[in-house]
Amino acid sequence: MSNWPTPHINATPEDFAPTVLMPGDPLRSKFIAENFIEGARLVNNVRGVQGYTGFYKGKRVSVMASGMGQPSIGIYAYELYNFFGVENIIRVGSCGSLTKDLHVKDIILAMGSCTNSNFASQYELPGTFSPIADYKLLTAAAECCEKAGVRYYVGNIYSSDLFYDDAASTLRWAKMGVLGVEMESAALYCTAARAGKRALAICTVSDSLVYDECMTAAEREQSLTDMITVALETSLKI
Ligand code: HPA
Repeated sequence: MSNWPTPHINATPEDFAPTVLMPGDPLRSKFIAENFIEGARLVNNVRGVQGYTGFYKGKRVSVMASGMGQPSIGIYAYELYNFFGVENIIRVGSCGSLTKDLHVKDIILAMGSCTNSNFASQYELPGTFSPIADYKLLTAAAECCEKAGVRYYVGNIYSSDLFYDDAASTLRWAKMGVLGVEMESAALYCTAARAGKRALAICTVSDSLVYDECMTAAEREQSLTDMITVALETSLKI
């Protein structure tokens, strides 16, 4: 008996390319497919989590949404890596910046991902696992940023289970040099490590926890385009 279709992905392994770009938002998945991927074909739509496969500069690539939060990305990444033959997942998301050095539109390549989540406890390790990006994906993405002239930062981010944090504790992570906060990368990195696969989270700063900044619609569009282009160019190098 095959392991697919799964409860969350109604497709076959042939439907997916080895590399999947993964935004949080299903509508962003559709936007990427329609505007950046040639011949994009809808391969999954369970719960409206749209997945498409097509070509970028002649190379096959997929895009599928993760939904919000670590439990959600944990499901999709697990199924793609373990049941659909996917080798690389590149998250293309947004984050809030935690330091004065970063402003909206900046791009973070998440080398490491701190978390308040219990996700890694399932591995029953006698200590704390450090979720990290795949080095090959990370260096390829940094090279793509350089080539495209896109400003980027490489460092630690914080993957929180809480968007609304009653203790307002998020900014404490800045004391440790953590650059931004989002809600998915730690579970993605853990899932990739366990499956022996590759992952990278690229995040555009969409809001700041230290400045009162917000992106205009045009800035949002441009920064999204930069991040998606970097992710797609990275997929050509692996
Ligand atoms: N918190 C958590 N996740 C986020 C944020 C934030 O401020 N901004 C974008 N993703």
